[in-house]
Amino acid sequence: MQLDEFMQDIALGAGQIIKSKFHHIKKWHTKSDPGDIVTEADEASEKYVIDRIRSAYPDDRILSEESGAIGDGNSGRVWIIDPLDGTRNYMMGIPLFCVSIGLAIDGSPIMGTIYDAIHDEMFFAERGKGAFMNGDPISVCREESLEDSLVSVSWVRRKVDGQAFVEYVEQISRDTSYFRRFGSAALVMAYIASGRIHAYMQGGLNPWDVAAGVIIIEEAGGVVTDFHGRPIDLRNQDIEILTANPALHSMLLRDVVSQRA
Ligand code: IPD
Ligand code: CA
Ligand code: CA
Repeated sequence: MQLDEFMQDIALGAGQIIKSKFHHIKKWHTKSDPGDIVTEADEASEKYVIDRIRSAYPDDRILSEESGAIGDGNSGRVWIIDPLDGTRNYMMGIPLFCVSIGLAIDGSPIMGTIYDAIHDEMFFAERGKGAFMNGDPISVCREESLEDSLVSVSWVRRKVDGQAFVEYVEQISRDTSYFRRFGSAALVMAYIASGRIHAYMQGGLNPWDVAAGVIIIEEAGGVVTDFHGRPIDLRNQDIEILTANPALHSMLLRDVVSQRA
């Protein structure tokens, strides 16, 4: 199996695991705060993905949300895994969650996939080869004005300045009131890449939330940076994301984020 097929195959397998346990969770516990949950589905999905990568590519390293860093292989490649992104939605019975798997070299993604098992949507991209959903090419929206655009603004209370985000919302609300919060950072990024929403900004993210999304958006013609306009480095532990098509991205960077960043 080629690397691209392998990555999508493990996302499919992991997605089937979490889908089969949806509405049937018996075991779960909290992590940093009461809203930060790990379920038996996160753990089963993660074990499946890690076992498959370790047996197929023993020289690669792994960074996975629940298990941390694994392996000391010297291939230079790191698999960055979120076995279930959107666990809070999942626990509440909201069918908006996904598996996210990225492959990176030197902090930059070279391939990534995001799989939404409920809607059977597989988003995939490889550097220089375009972005796809279920095999069909996708691209970011072409909108050049924020007026009436769909914008996802989100933050993590314990990690970032919430007041800044309230001010971003206030600034953007001069142009649109179509705000969204999906509860799954990876899925939001897949939706940016496929032109379903126009812009997304969030602070307090982890590498596994965004590793696949960054390359899928870039290959779909979008721009992904931090709030200073710098590229995302997946070796950072606290990641902020500003993403949209090039026109909307520069508008948000100049008119909204740079006022505070
Ligand atoms: C979370 C989700 C959420 C985002 C959080 C993430 P998890 O991931 O992506 O939308 O706001 O920052 O931690 O815990 O469901 O994998
Ligand atoms: Ca996550
Ligand atoms: Ca997760």
